[in-house]
Amino acid sequence: MGALEEIKARVNLVDLIGRYVVLKPAGKNYKARCPFHPDDTPSLMVSPEKGLWHCFGCGAGGDAIGFLMRIERLSFAEALAKLAQELGVEVRGGEGRSRLLQVNQEALRYFQRGLLGPEGEKARAYLLSRGLGERLWERWGLGYAPPAWDGLLRALSRFGVQTLLELGLAVAGERGPYDRFRDRVMFAIRDEGGRVVAFAGRAFEGEPKYLNTPNTPLFTKGTVLYGLDLAKEAIRRRGQAVVVEGYTDVISLHAAGIEEAVASMGTSLTPDQARLLSRYAEEVVIAYDRDAAGEASALRGMLILRQAGLRVRVASLPPGEDPDSFVRQAGGEAMRAVLGQAQPFQKFFLAALASRHDLSRTEGKEAALREAQALWPEITSPALRLELLTGLASLLSLPPEEVQEALRGVRRPVPAPEREPAEPLLTPEDLVVRFLLEGKLPDPVVSELLAEEERFCPAYREVVRRWAEARAAGERPAPADLLTGVSPEAAARTARALLTELRVPDEARVLEEALARFLYLPRLTRRMEEVRAALREAEARADGEAVRRLSLEFQHLCRQRLELLRKR
Ligand code: CTP
Ligand code: MN
Repeated sequence: MGALEEIKARVNLVDLIGRYVVLKPAGKNYKARCPFHPDDTPSLMVSPEKGLWHCFGCGAGGDAIGFLMRIERLSFAEALAKLAQELGVEVRGGEGRSRLLQVNQEALRYFQRGLLGPEGEKARAYLLSRGLGERLWERWGLGYAPPAWDGLLRALSRFGVQTLLELGLAVAGERGPYDRFRDRVMFAIRDEGGRVVAFAGRAFEGEPKYLNTPNTPLFTKGTVLYGLDLAKEAIRRRGQAVVVEGYTDVISLHAAGIEEAVASMGTSLTPDQARLLSRYAEEVVIAYDRDAAGEASALRGMLILRQAGLRVRVASLPPGEDPDSFVRQAGGEAMRAVLGQAQPFQKFFLAALASRHDLSRTEGKEAALREAQALWPEITSPALRLELLTGLASLLSLPPEEVQEALRGVRRPVPAPEREPAEPLLTPEDLVVRFLLEGKLPDPVVSELLAEEERFCPAYREVVRRWAEARAAGERPAPADLLTGVSPEAAARTARALLTELRVPDEARVLEEALARFLYLPRLTRRMEEVRAALREAEARADGEAVRRLSLEFQHLCRQRLELLRKR
């Protein structure tokens, strides 16, 4: 067992939380006044059974490590170290580590042989078709994992199965160990010193798109920045880093001469990553695709960067583009221009709020305020606070004092103490995630959901991806394991979805309805819009045949929609 698993197996969530607040038993769970916000009613709930906690008042939540990180303001690594020390778990150092690094290096060689060998034909063609030419393969540690179930296990057998399991290169199946990565294009993930600490494997098609090494003694998610080993010189020289989301973004940017690019690898930035960057950079330019940049978890990542003393600007790519697609199409100079025009964080933050809410309406203003309030505790710089406060006040046409009061979260009057917290409503998305993690969705539905993962908000996407990866590797992940080291949003939302009591007589019905509202209805609605547009065009062209066909389809869609609505 690795140190992380051992820590997680040994830590007692109730004892840990009980050190900070007074816990009262409530059925299978415990309740307490939440330490993270002024709390009159006990709204913090702790489930020893699930290994999760959640506050129904302020929305925080997660696993044991997440609780410690939050209450002691520690990074993931620091929280782990603290627990390891308390629990007497040995964290591997020195000699063991260098041996593990050597094994990973050998695994990389195996993947590189796979790419160049006869089985690598498809992977070579794929990389070339994506503009990742041969000269990049060695530099970026690109490879191919052949389809066999035991190719790597055999090739690296001299290191022992136990080690391969520990490094996440192999998975313990019911009928024996097998290779985690099969028939995937491989990316080596290196730490800032260029040591291979993990891998990511991209599927040609099918789900999950990327399979990543799980947490191992060499790698914890959120502590590494992809590409930093090759970017750090350029970052130091320019005093500036460009942060993107994905592996291919980084490689394409470097190939186009933007060598200060690194990737956060699909999660929002963590304090560990920010600290890493601050060793080399003074300023960070965020280049996510447009939608992703405005999301609350991305904004929180940016605040974390500010906290680490970095200036932050946000670049705007044309809609629908990511850095990889943009730079390959428009070239390095155009990308430089986009980076040059990046907006200061303050401006971007306000613009992101304005774009997501209709600020001409009261509800829109309230929603924007709530969102800003959720991020407010993270904004500790007085100067930035003031700037945002005045910006927000003028954006909302409200007096600054009122905005300030709202942001401080002035206590609302009443809820009588000791009353149950009002039953929180789970959205269809919450419910779908809950049923997914509880293993209650049939396989075909799971595949549909994974194929349309953009439907999930970024926080849930993070968790759903992890779940899919673990499943693809043949594991049965417990929710608490999935939440170790994910972003605070992801942990909080998921813990809430799992810990909220469902007071319903018929769970199957709730499940069906949630799926209808989250997946089927939106999909139908979108298709109907497409058909309607096509129909209008066909009418303009006076194309009678197409008009008939499209009207039929439209009617059919309407009927399907009605049926779905009627079932509820
Ligand atoms: N990611 C992940 N698991 C997934 C999907 C994405 O870990 N199932 C992470 C990867 O680090 C990926 C990043 O999120 O590089 C960005 O995701 P996405 O934009 O979907 O992928 P791209 O990097 O654009 O990959 P590609 O260009 O190959 O489609
Ligand atoms: Mn892409």
